[in-house]
Amino acid sequence: MSHIVDQLFERGFVHVPGFLDPEETEALAQDYRQGQFHRTVYTLGHATPEAIELIGDKIRALLTQFEDVPQFKPSRFGGGAYFATEKGINFGWHQDHESYFINQTHQHYLNIYIPVIKPEREHTNLCVIPIDRFKERSPDAWSVLEWGGAATAKTEGGQTTISNDHAGGLHAELDFELEELCETPELVAGDALLLRGDMFHRTQDNDTERVALSVRAFNPDITVVKEHYEQNCPAKRWFQANNPMYGAITEAFAERDIMILSELMMSMFNARRAREQAAQNQQHAPQKNSLPQDNLPQNKEK
Ligand SMILES: [Fe+2]
Repeated sequence: MSHIVDQLFERGFVHVPGFLDPEETEALAQDYRQGQFHRTVYTLGHATPEAIELIGDKIRALLTQFEDVPQFKPSRFGGGAYFATEKGINFGWHQDHESYFINQTHQHYLNIYIPVIKPEREHTNLCVIPIDRFKERSPDAWSVLEWGGAATAKTEGGQTTISNDHAGGLHAELDFELEELCETPELVAGDALLLRGDMFHRTQDNDTERVALSVRAFNPDITVVKEHYEQNCPAKRWFQANNPMYGAITEAFAERDIMILSELMMSMFNARRAREQAAQNQQHAPQKNSLPQDNLPQNKEK
């Protein structure tokens, strides 16, 4: 097993210094500066396909390390998004939500997190809870959380509660502050932090203007089912109400109860293209046909 695979199983994350060379890093920083932004539940910078392709070979080479690892096999990656503190990115402890709603598991899911603008090594990193430390401190809680997602950890009076933001209720109550287990890999622009999808993480601080590219790799052959998608709770419904992507998922599952992830993603992709096309048509339509603009989704942090 390679060092990277080994570390992902043992600790859940790996720091790869100098993953990108300075030219690639600068090209991505430039892509962000010239960029477009998606505003759904929070504001993300859109990485252009051309910019992602600049580093495509490096990511493909990285993913070959998982070819013979049946328990963790992210084999394909999609687009990328820029997480920028200047756009209000500052999250508390959580396991990612939306990727879990789509993939329905975080097994076979890898977050490739690459700061491209990072003025200070020791600030504005990503804090993580290493899996070995979580498992050692609270094996029962970790057994519930492993490969999962859509969870938020809140600490009060020395206790931590971990909410299930997919189906409601609590995943776990811990008699310590999750923060005690925190580690913060210090990154410079061009480094990569590889993270399993089930890692608890938070923004270290938003004191500096950091921009990080996040590319997500997944396994297109896993099965997704309507029953999982239809489970919900107020937190999940809030995401669904604020991102039109979920309408496309609902439609895909209206026709079929079970499919493979790549089929679901194709439906989502087609629906997005149709939305973009409709928006373009609307832009070019005579003014009197325009819809009011105040019904656009609000930009909120989760
Ligand atoms: Fe996250």
